Amino acid sequence: MAPEDAAIAFLRAEGFEGPYACAIVTGTGLGALVEAVEDRVSLGYDRIPGFPAPGVSGHGGRLHRGRLSGRPVLVFEGRAHAYERGDAAAMRVPLAAARALGAGGLLLTNASGSLRLEAGPGSLVMLTDHINLSGLSPLIGEPSDARFVPMTDAYDPGLRTKLLAAAEEAGLPLQAGIYAWFSGPSFETPAEVRMAGILGADLVGMSTVPETILARFLGLPVAAVSVVTNLAAGIAGGAPHHAETKAVAARAGADLARLAAAFVARLPDPQGHG
Ligand code: HPA
Repeated sequence: MAPEDAAIAFLRAEGFEGPYACAIVTGTGLGALVEAVEDRVSLGYDRIPGFPAPGVSGHGGRLHRGRLSGRPVLVFEGRAHAYERGDAAAMRVPLAAARALGAGGLLLTNASGSLRLEAGPGSLVMLTDHINLSGLSPLIGEPSDARFVPMTDAYDPGLRTKLLAAAEEAGLPLQAGIYAWFSGPSFETPAEVRMAGILGADLVGMSTVPETILARFLGLPVAAVSVVTNLAAGIAGGAPHHAETKAVAARAGADLARLAAAFVARLPDPQGHG
């Protein structure tokens, strides 16, 4: 039995069978998106077999199903991070369950630090690619040849086009950038941020990348949007703190919710009502 089988059986019994236009993972302080989901049915992660217990303040640890822009969605409010237990596959069971229940794609959201002055706190940035600086992979130990996951166009070009169109329609500026994954949980040093910039990163953060790798492994197309909560360490005096990242994310969360709603409206309705 695969580790996700118990979760899938439990969620089916609780009425969580899809299909869903997409699944969404909300990052630090970004729970506002959940409020936009109508006809919501919710379950605490602690009730779902094999689900992680997210341990960061700012993360709710609840799974919701409901409708966003009239489309069925599955929302993971809160994620488990690799830095909590050293397990980069911490989100494998939830994402495998999303796939099995019929999610057509995955929208990942996160809070990040920016290396670009033009993408300051409160900015929304769509990920176009990533750099894995953690030395970790959620697929270490995976025995099958499926572990050799192609990561070209990891952030699905078709979904990126939809995100840009959604942002334009919603009147929200949306920049594009490359996200460097540091394991955390300490923030980066200014020297590490300078290094990431030389390597081509626009953003730094502690999540998302392992989920992108898992989703590609599972065959889920991925889009990702970052809410910039701070300038990265050493950028124009940037000196990030968790309290600041949570507060800024909470303020920008409303923009992210509007973007997500406009994005989901552009996805095919899996139940075929237009
Ligand atoms: N670094 C890493 N993760 C983050 C940051 C940062 O500056 N801001 C929000 N999450």
